[in-house]
Amino acid sequence: MYDFQADNDLPKPELYRQLGNAAAALIEGEADSVANMANIAALVWEFVPDLNWAGFYRMIDDELVLGPFVGRPACIRIPVGQGVCGAAAGTGKTQLVRDVHDFPGHIACDAASRSELVVPVLRDGEVCAVIDLDSPVLDRFDTEDAAGVEELARLLADRI
Ligand code: SME
Repeated sequence: MYDFQADNDLPKPELYRQLGNAAAALIEGEADSVANMANIAALVWEFVPDLNWAGFYRMIDDELVLGPFVGRPACIRIPVGQGVCGAAAGTGKTQLVRDVHDFPGHIACDAASRSELVVPVLRDGEVCAVIDLDSPVLDRFDTEDAAGVEELARLLADRI
């Protein structure tokens, strides 16, 4: 049994440090990418408060394809360059969106989403996936969230 204790009152850097430690323990010795993405999505969901979606899109044949996630069913394929996920995949840069209604081309998978953080996972300098966090709370994510999820992306790069 895995029994990670997520304390939502922690300062964000400490919360993400603990999340990173738990993630490292979960993927240790496991090479199956679906298993690892599924467990990491579940872990993010437990550790990070105020989310309505947490999961992965994988880069397959130059297109983003839905991967393991927690949340409501989501759009399956996203062209590179479209929406927040496609922007992260196209630029290789984290997308921190305080109000999704202000993001041109935002793809609404859940009408409740108000803010979004998408972090590319880079392997050998190429985007192999993105980690997508959605929140029903306006302006939910800041640079500390981005730094924490970017660290997670580095940890996962050769395990998903
Ligand atoms: N909102 C994303 C689409 C994915 S869902 O949020 C799960 C986007 O604009 O790329």
